[in-house]
Amino acid sequence: MTARRLLLLGAPGAGKGTQAERLVNKLGIPQISTGDMLREAVAVGTEIGVKARDYMERGELVPDEVVIGVAEERLGRDDARAGFILDGFPRTVAQAHALDEMLERMGSGIERCVALVIDEAAVIERLLKRAEIEGRSDDNEETIRNRMRVYQEQTAPLVAYYRENGVLAEVDGMGGIDEVGKRIEEALGA
Ligand code: AP5
Ligand code: MG
Repeated sequence: MTARRLLLLGAPGAGKGTQAERLVNKLGIPQISTGDMLREAVAVGTEIGVKARDYMERGELVPDEVVIGVAEERLGRDDARAGFILDGFPRTVAQAHALDEMLERMGSGIERCVALVIDEAAVIERLLKRAEIEGRSDDNEETIRNRMRVYQEQTAPLVAYYRENGVLAEVDGMGGIDEVGKRIEEALGA
């Protein structure tokens, strides 16, 4: 049986969003991207968007209490009951603990954490290319470097956290989208 409560971990530009979309099509479970939800909140100008905007602009993490609320509300919806692909959440040890607690209340837990491994030069190249296409406001070189630093300091420790929990699969994120996708499927037994 393929794991269906999944988490994609990886540096900015590692391919979390791209690979989550691929898995949505393959497994028929929703992608839950806190980055996408926060960008939407900023665009609409909700209270959460107002709180998040400046952090996102600088490439800093939005405070845990804001993001945890967003994730909890989304995971509580009906379509997440049969499984989900978390993309960009959790990003701190405190968020990982909060996630474990919320899933435990629902009687479940993370079954597999796929950590995408990629080198920094490749990430910067990918994100600068995306900047030309999509114009995401945090895809400029200075902010990308800050997002990388924040990832190393605050999010990278989660690799060890999920390894200790026995659910980690490290996957090489270099190469083409389908190539990486196939490695992920293998790691999931999909
Ligand atoms: P978020 O939206 O999560 O951004 P990110 O982590 O910086 O990651 P990206 O979306 O840039 O990269 P990705 O890994 O999804 O790669 P993608 O598939 O797009 O977060 C943005 C901000 O929101 C944060 O900085 C923070 O402020 C806030 N935030 C969000 N969640 C938070 C949380 N939990 N706590 C606190 N704050 C939070 O690929 C990148 C590009 O590369 C694309 O153009 C893609 O087409 C291309 N590409 C992908 N794979 C390949 C490949 N194999 N070969 C070539 N190109 C590829
Ligand atoms: Mg993304």
